[in-house]
Parts: sequence; C-alpha cells; structure tokens
Amino acid sequence: MGMHLSRRAVIPALVVGVPAVAAGAWMLRDTAGFAKAGAALRLPLDLMAQGPTRMAELVRFATLAPNNHNTQAWRFSGDDSQITIAPDPARFTPVVDPDRHHSFVSLGAAAETLGIAASAYGLTARPVFDPAGERLRISLAPGGLADPLVTAVAQRQSNRSIYDGAPLTAPEQDALKQVTAGSEVVLHLVEDATAKTALRDLVVAANADQMDDPAFVAELRDWLRFSEAAALARADGLFSGCSGNPSMPQRLGGVVFPLVYRKASEAAKYSAQIDSSAALVLLVSAGDAPQHWVETGRVLARLTLVATDLGLAHAHFNQAVEVPERRAAVAALMGLTSGRASILLRLGLATPMPFALRRPVAQTLT
Ligand SMILES: Cc1cc2nc3c(=O)[nH]c(=O)nc-3n(C[C@H](O)[C@H](O)[C@H](O)COP(=O)(O)O)c2cc1C
Repeated sequence: MGMHLSRRAVIPALVVGVPAVAAGAWMLRDTAGFAKAGAALRLPLDLMAQGPTRMAELVRFATLAPNNHNTQAWRFSGDDSQITIAPDPARFTPVVDPDRHHSFVSLGAAAETLGIAASAYGLTARPVFDPAGERLRISLAPGGLADPLVTAVAQRQSNRSIYDGAPLTAPEQDALKQVTAGSEVVLHLVEDATAKTALRDLVVAANADQMDDPAFVAELRDWLRFSEAAALARADGLFSGCSGNPSMPQRLGGVVFPLVYRKASEAAKYSAQIDSSAALVLLVSAGDAPQHWVETGRVLARLTLVATDLGLAHAHFNQAVEVPERRAAVAALMGLTSGRASILLRLGLATPMPFALRRPVAQTLT
C-alpha cells in the first residue's frame, strides 16, 4: 500500500525539504569540482615535457608554493633555460602588507619551489634577485641531483585544523633545524610551554589589532571565498573549506562573515590551535630589505616541504609579525638583536584538509 501524505504534511515537508535538497545538491556538485581541480593542479610533473611545455610544468609547481592570502601575486616569463618571477601589483594586499614583505617572501617561496621542480629534470636552478627590477631571475643549467622534496610540493598545504598535541621527535627537530644550514635566515624552534604561550598571547593581541582596522577586515574579506563555486571561479584567495569552516554561497558568506568574525571566538580558536601544536617556528630575516625577504621565502618553502616530508602539518600565525608594535614585542621576547621577525608558523601532526586552488599557468605568464 502506498503512503498517503496529507496536504498539511506535504507543504511543510516541501518548505524544509526542497531547500535542503537544493542546498545538498549545490554542495555536492561544487565539492566534487573543487576537489578535482585541486587534484589536477597537483598531478606529478610530466618528466617528458620539453621546451614551453616544460616551462609550464615548472611554473605549475612554482605556483603551488605558499603565498600570502593565496593572492598569487606573481608573473612568470622566459623559457625552459631562464625564468623570471616578477610581482603582480594588481594582486597586492597593501593593508596587511604595506612594505610588501609578504609579497617578496611569496616570490622567494615560488623561486625555491621552481628550483626543486627543475631538479627533477636534471637541471640546477640559480635564482638571482634584482632589487632594482624587484624580480627574480632563475637560470636553469644541466646538472645536479633530483631533490627528493619534489614529491612534497604536491602534498604540502597550510593546515589550519587542530593538531594532535604530540611533541616533535629528536630526528624531526634536527631535520627542521637543518633547513637553515648555510643560510643567513635564522630559525627559532619554540617548544617550551612558557615561550609558546607568550607568542600565542602576542598573536591573539595582534589579531585583535587587525580586527579593529576596517581596512584590514575589508581587504581580508575581498580574498575570502565562501563557496567552492566562488573559489573555482577565481582559483585564488582563501576558501572557507580549506580552513575547516562551512561553505555557503558567496553572498551569504559576505553577510555571515562579520557576525562570526569576532575577537573572542578568534582568540579561542587561535589558542586551541597553538596549544594543539608541537612547536612554533619563527623565521628571522637577516635584514629588512626585499632581498632578505626573498631569501626568507626560499627557506620557508624548503622548511614547509621538509615538514610535509616528515608527515608534519604546518600553518601560519603571522599576525604577531605583521603588526609593527607586536613584531617588536616578538623580537624582545625572542631576544633578537638584529634582523626582522618575518614568519611565524606552527607545526604538528594533523589530518589533511582540502587543498587550496591556484590559477591556471596561462594566467600567470607574461
Ligand atoms: C608570506 C606568507 C604569509 C602568510 N600569512 C598567513 C597567515 O597569517 N595566516 C594564515 O592562515 N595563512 C597564511 N599564509 C598561508 C597562505 O594563506 C597559504 O599559503 C595560501 O592560502 C595557499 O594555501 P596552501 O599553503 O595550502 O597552498 C601565509 C603564507 C605566506 C607565504
């Protein structure tokens, strides 16, 4: 016998059910497309590629580098023997990054990642920063060994979830510290509970400073992608799902964001994230000029790839080094006598998150 529903039952069921099914279908469709796009970006390098196709492969891997707000503020040019990476001013974030320190760190990270990818083709990359042109020229010459970190390039991600709280092992500590051997960038590994708490308090305070600035909040909102569809359309910015937040239509996200982006909840979230992490890492640039920041970006790329290779997740906590007064407090806390406190990360064991997108290579070429 068939089930009979009265009109009184059908109408509320439709009112609740139709939007729920529609919302479900919307999320399912977009989630699949988003995951597919992320996976396609991270296919292994085509080692048979030659000429312009090889250059495109190198650029694809370079763009998988960490970069501020996922703005991808870079332009690539050249061929498979010399590649130039220049900034893309249309993609700068002038409020959070007025001196473009983050932008230069991101260029350095892309250059280092490109060099690691080039090693898979039997090429040695020699990046030289041109301060006048504000660009990196990378010559690619035959020779050198394949860098085993190339596999980690496609696996690395910023993971903003809660970690499992386990401490680092001695071999992990050694491998991480080894990254700055021979570099002018200084790495501080902070595992001591008191120092971690002091840094956490500076992050929370700096985050509150930033939230008090309407220009900062507006700039951040411009780079937030609340739905898979919005993330896919632009293939840049910060997608909610990558941070473990619910996805929702972009317009709705714009309305909900100011309601949920509150100091108390942000502070609680950051405290829990830092408390769950095995260690914080502070990278200190040797000086306060673009060439020093580019160098720091190179170390950042390598450090995050070594961490990935060790099975360690990482995420950024740069608020404390972005706000000048808080950066000075970080320097005092860490006893720095020179250089610039440049990048603050946390490390630990965690479950992977959805991968962030990148724009197609063709859109980054000049
Ligand atoms: C210079 C720089 C600064 C960054 N600052 C932050 C930050 O303050 N908070 C954060 O959550 N992620 C930060 N990130 C991480 C980027 O948002 C991330 O690399 C980008 O969204 C791409 O995602 P992926 O690293 O998972 O590929 C920063 C990255 C770089 C290179």
